[in-house]
Amino acid sequence: MGEEGSFENVKDLSGTVWILDPIDGTVNFVHQESYFAISAGVFHNGEPVIGIVYDVMHDELFSSLKGEGAVLNNRRLSSLSKNSLNEALISFNTGWLLKDRRLERIVKRSRGTRSYGAAALEIAYVAAGRLDAYISFNLAPWDIAGGYALLQEVGGKATNYDGNALNFLEKDTLIAANPWVYDEIIEVLNTNTN
Ligand code: IPD
Ligand code: CA
Repeated sequence: MGEEGSFENVKDLSGTVWILDPIDGTVNFVHQESYFAISAGVFHNGEPVIGIVYDVMHDELFSSLKGEGAVLNNRRLSSLSKNSLNEALISFNTGWLLKDRRLERIVKRSRGTRSYGAAALEIAYVAAGRLDAYISFNLAPWDIAGGYALLQEVGGKATNYDGNALNFLEKDTLIAANPWVYDEIIEVLNTNTN
């Protein structure tokens, strides 16, 4: 399954499915010539087995194999450790604030926000501990498959914005995060205070 081609032909994830994005961060590629990535996730019967996110310009290869952990080039990525929202860096496109004003609460409570404009890289950064959460409202399976596989290997958590499991068959929202920060984000979004 890939951005260029056979999206509609994949109706379920039984067997082995490669989910590919040849360039994630296309606007960055065109506009900045940096911060874009090649992304691949290999799934078997719906479970992520291999994750690859390659930041071409920085020569950073994030990769993972189910049960064997994740690496950044030759360095093993540590399991994510306990963190709290007030010490967390959160990444999302600022435009999403117009879609859900509750995100203001996350902005106020976090250490800071960033926006890189390449979903696969941003999820890889969560897996590497450079970011503590990445939120989006409009992603395709190929934007997230590689990063999702990486995240599983370091104990990260990823669901759609409503907290439901991702199905990798259609576009969806996303929260990909350090598991402690994930829980805090869900709590803050669902608590009616500013
Ligand atoms: C896009 C990027 C972007 C995200 C968009 C994606 P593309 O992928 O990941 O960061 O906000 O939703 O479609 O089009 O550059 O492959
Ligand atoms: Ca993409």
